[in-house]
Amino acid sequence: YGRNLIILDEVESTQKIAHDEAQQEVPNGTLVIADSQTGGRGRLARTWYSAHGKGIWMSLIARPHLSIEQAPQLTLVTAVAIIQTLKEVTGLEAQIKWPNDILLNGKKITGILTELQADPDRIQAVIIGIGMNVNQQITDFEDEITSIATSLRIESGNKWERTEIIGELMNQLEKYVHMYEAHGFSPIKMLWESYSVTIGKQLTARMVNETLRGEAVGISENGLLQLKLRDGSIRSIYSADIEFD
Ligand code: BTN
Repeated sequence: YGRNLIILDEVESTQKIAHDEAQQEVPNGTLVIADSQTGGRGRLARTWYSAHGKGIWMSLIARPHLSIEQAPQLTLVTAVAIIQTLKEVTGLEAQIKWPNDILLNGKKITGILTELQADPDRIQAVIIGIGMNVNQQITDFEDEITSIATSLRIESGNKWERTEIIGELMNQLEKYVHMYEAHGFSPIKMLWESYSVTIGKQLTARMVNETLRGEAVGISENGLLQLKLRDGSIRSIYSADIEFD
């Protein structure tokens, strides 16, 4: 991954560019990186702040040998690769909040946005968008996120080379996507659960149509969060906003 690079200065969203490129038959592992984004997007159509030169704003075009049903778990595969990368490069031990937030000391350092281009029966491309806060100081963050966001610089006291992190992340992502293709989700699931702050917690899960409270007891073989409700029944959740009780 990352051998074919598209490096840009300012864009609306690397995600958008990667979607367009993916339709042009670009090779597996093509990486779109920008110095800043004017319209960075997060999950649930939220804004992703992408200050100029302060973070890693990129989208990977992957063409994995996976079925469409296996694609959503790539978010969890990516989370594991990011945790490993941060450990290798900075020594920091980050944690995962289901489904896609990477936290340091309880604050968000990285978000993942996985999107699919598929025919009815097969994956054409998976666009894995990663936003990582690297060299921001607290005063660089917008007011609405200062209490929930952090950066590598804030947590470590050092500035970091973005290229070094990107290089390591490409190696780790390639390794874990191969592991997933060859051995299925089980080995990834074990790593994911060991890095998770979600499992074992009482939480409220807000979904589009309902809100559920319960204890997170694990993730399923297809990456769904398993919530044990008060009445003892288990519900599998595909996507939600999680708040710890
Ligand atoms: C989230 O936590 O909601 C996901 C955030 C994903 C942000 C990245 S930054 C690079 C890529 N381009 C975008 O517009 N979004 C993703």
